[in-house]
Amino acid sequence: MKIAVVGTGYVGLVTGTCFAEVGIDVTCIDIDQKKIDNLHKGILPIYEPGLEEMVSRNVEKGRLHFSTNLAEAITDCDVAFIAVGTPPGEDGSADLKYVLAVARGIGESMNNYCVIVTKSTVPVGTAAKVRTELESALAARGANIEFDVASNPEFLKEGAAIDDFLKPDRIVVGISSARAEEVMSRLYKPFLLNGHPIIFMDIPSAEMTKYAANSMLATKISFMNDVANLCEIMGADVNMVRRGIGSDARIGTKFIYPGIGYGGSCFPKDVKALIKTAQENGYDMQVLRAVEGVNENQKSVLFNKVNAHFGGDLRGLKIAVWGLSFKPKTDDMREAPSLVIIEKLLAAGCTVTAYDPVAMPEAQHSLGDSITYAKDEFDALLDADALLVVTEWPEFRVPNFKVMSRLMKQQVIFDGRNIYEPAEMKEMGFVYHCIGIKT
Ligand code: UGA
Repeated sequence: MKIAVVGTGYVGLVTGTCFAEVGIDVTCIDIDQKKIDNLHKGILPIYEPGLEEMVSRNVEKGRLHFSTNLAEAITDCDVAFIAVGTPPGEDGSADLKYVLAVARGIGESMNNYCVIVTKSTVPVGTAAKVRTELESALAARGANIEFDVASNPEFLKEGAAIDDFLKPDRIVVGISSARAEEVMSRLYKPFLLNGHPIIFMDIPSAEMTKYAANSMLATKISFMNDVANLCEIMGADVNMVRRGIGSDARIGTKFIYPGIGYGGSCFPKDVKALIKTAQENGYDMQVLRAVEGVNENQKSVLFNKVNAHFGGDLRGLKIAVWGLSFKPKTDDMREAPSLVIIEKLLAAGCTVTAYDPVAMPEAQHSLGDSITYAKDEFDALLDADALLVVTEWPEFRVPNFKVMSRLMKQQVIFDGRNIYEPAEMKEMGFVYHCIGIKT
């Protein structure tokens, strides 16, 4: 099979590379010449564990290509994925101009039957717009070429994207013809060896599935954050409550970890978009509005604890921050709770020294010189009045507490991810605050 993947951002690059990994001939397309030049040199625009090696292996084998030439890539293609960005417009709704421009480009150059698949997260109804765009591009050149559109949302988690792609829980494909179903079945066959299903459905349902999945996950998180805050007030321990409820298979153990609110490029955007789609169609997603509200509040919880501990006057305090990215194993700073927390600390008159194993260069784009970037986690602690654990990178989990204690001016830790044991921390002489447990 021969496929094209348009857009070499996070989704496109992982998708294209993983298809190449199972032997499919893949061309990844981008309009950004610099990005393509870099990819030819093995320089990736994003950090994702294992991806760099996989890209270079497949380029060497001659089955993964990078190009700016859409027309060439689309020639003789079986499937073309559209994986370009859908930036939120001013009103929060997804801007489809890049998606539709790619659809037009495909229509202008395709030469045989092809399934054109939306892979970017797009609002319900987008595949229909893609179809119209393709039809008009084909009509403009008087071409009578059959095609199908399909919707194939992705469920990759940053930091675990390759594994998620190669061993998916499920693959959801929205189609409107038996022919498209056959092509997509053939394409995904190598990924279904673990027995997990490919679920075919109508196109609007596939588009909706993506939003419903992310919104449900965001709901679990906000619900647990709400429960955690109440636990703290009532003297309950949210870690115990989490284990108590998670053992019920209907609830499950995953995605019920309280913290400092969800971030990233997906949950905040998708929750907002679904609320908006509903509103535009006369329906009020009450639960999701609350999910969003709780999440906004949760980003302030750690700062509020700092403020309360120091009696409301933070001027002149030196605060160490461990972790900047919105979650571990990524350099992604989009909607990272760290940004809100740091902004509040600075506004209150603190100085902030942060350390993140990967995200510091990325963080510098938004934080600039307003904070100091430490060379390692211990360097950040020198003379600190408090440490805030913001992202639960593995290297922060079992640090040398003795060394930490010596470096810090005051032995106070605010743990936004509940990675330490309150009793042990107390024993070692730390004042320890975390989420959902009164300490
Ligand atoms: C999320 C979904 O998990 C993927 O399935 C989906 O494909 C992706 O969005 C997308 O739409 O592209 P991702 O944004 O990479 O993936 O990150 P997650 O691992 O889901 O974490 C999201 C946020 O929730 C993080 O800020 C994390 O710290 C927070 N979280 C997660 C919690 O606070 N508690 C939890 O128990 C789990």
